[in-house]
Amino acid sequence: MAYDNILVETNGRVGVITLNRPKALNALNGELIAELGRALDAFEADAGIGCIILTGSERAFAAGADIKEMQPLAFPATYTDDFITSWERLSRCRKPVVAAVAGYALGGGCEIAMMCDIILAADNARFGQPEIQLGILPGAGGSQRLTRAIGKAKAMEMCLTGRTLTAEEADRYGLVSRVVPLAELRAEAMKVAETIAGLSLPSVMMAKESVNRAFETTLAEGIRFERRLFQALFATADQKEGMAAFAEKRGASFQNR
Ligand code: HXC
Repeated sequence: MAYDNILVETNGRVGVITLNRPKALNALNGELIAELGRALDAFEADAGIGCIILTGSERAFAAGADIKEMQPLAFPATYTDDFITSWERLSRCRKPVVAAVAGYALGGGCEIAMMCDIILAADNARFGQPEIQLGILPGAGGSQRLTRAIGKAKAMEMCLTGRTLTAEEADRYGLVSRVVPLAELRAEAMKVAETIAGLSLPSVMMAKESVNRAFETTLAEGIRFERRLFQALFATADQKEGMAAFAEKRGASFQNR
């Protein structure tokens, strides 16, 4: 498949999508988001892929939605066309996605990072929701996911003032799983993705679904949901293999079934 705004490659069972509009700091225009959706479709359909990495350049993960593309938009067309619907493809991805974030992750850039399951940040990463400075507000889930990730006080300050977080702050606030030196970001992300891709895909997908359920339901319902998935995994060959491998003191070889 040909792409103009992203680079797509595979490394064993890991699929890598690199946002690639360097002249615009990876600003997310409609074409890029459509390509991202197609690349995710392809990786999800590929049984050989167990984990996906989403990354950008050293200078920018993504500096937001493309402001120049949005500038001429007017209501009610923004409502009837609802261009943000196409952004939701990433949040519907059932396979795990690791965001490897260096440089700017602003506005829609921060929002797509938060749609991923794990955010690894380089020490130069900057996270922010500066939409308020443009007379709008975060439109791809930022006000919701940020608040769930770091709490009302910090999310409110970021959304109301546009204040940007350093990688160290993002780590301290719990927005990212950890910070690594910029030069090691890709290798670290690959290590995490390879670890996940080497595990049993059904259990990985169910674990992702179960953690995400915590944001959608009550504790009692979430625990009930987790219990059913836990029980269901005893129907997999991989549960037999994983536990047999432990008992036999050898590495497990999962078949993803
Ligand atoms: C379009 C963008 C862009 C953006 C940068 N560029 N961000 N183009 N949309 N979001 C372009 C610039 O116009 C410029 O193009 C080139 O990238 C380099 O950017 P500079 O501004 O020259 O770089 P620098 O001075 O280093 O500043 C970097 C920056 C700044 C701090 C990241 O670019 C910036 O503030 N960008 C906007 C960030 C932002 O407001 N994001 C939120 C967008 S709204 P030229 O052609 O001049 O060289 C949003 C809503 C999402 O995301 C809602 C869901 C859809």
